[in-house]
Amino acid sequence: MPTRFTLVLGDITTQQVDAIVNAANPTLLGGGGVDGAIHAAAGPELLEECRGLHGCQTGEAKITRGYLLPAKYVIHTVGPRYGQEQGREAELLRSCYARCLEVAAERGVQTIAFPAISAGVYGYPLSEAAAIAVQAVCSWVHAFDCFTEIRFLVYSSRAKRMYIEAMQHYCHTMPEDDKIIWSV
Ligand code: APR
Repeated sequence: MPTRFTLVLGDITTQQVDAIVNAANPTLLGGGGVDGAIHAAAGPELLEECRGLHGCQTGEAKITRGYLLPAKYVIHTVGPRYGQEQGREAELLRSCYARCLEVAAERGVQTIAFPAISAGVYGYPLSEAAAIAVQAVCSWVHAFDCFTEIRFLVYSSRAKRMYIEAMQHYCHTMPEDDKIIWSV
């Protein structure tokens, strides 16, 4: 069954999906940006559960309940800090997407929403981050088509343009891809 890829300009905390992905930091104890928004919307119980996870390595992912969020789960991942990972930024960012999908699939998640991991405070150039996000998620879906919908949540029209360019480039390189349906 094909996976629907949806590009949404909006707030990830409002998404009615099984799981939303949090762009966290290694402490998993909250922060600004997406991290701050998700903790604010989920309520204090999310932080309590996160305390028990004892942090998360860059490129890894851990799952919690969503509490007051519409989403049942939050998958916390830690993206690379651009220019500070000894040249492993792209590899670590790809790992974030792959590990989030693995953790989600293990929990039976069928619909999931990603923010632009590392493209804010962590300084990843948006066009590069978008290209890695689309490529990493699409190649994973080819191997394990267990998701009905994957959403990319963007928070500005500039980010939306970057993701559209990334999707168009991917479609150009994989024209016969019948496992993916795009909707923008
Ligand atoms: N919904 C969707 N996207 C959002 C939202 C939101 N509510 N808030 C911010 N964004 C976008 C930003 O515009 C950016 O494009 O998410 C992307 C990721 O930005 P950050 O949240 O800054 O995440 P990141 O760059 O990975 O930095 C992580 O920031 O908040 C701290 O604790 C966090 O230390 C960690 C670091």
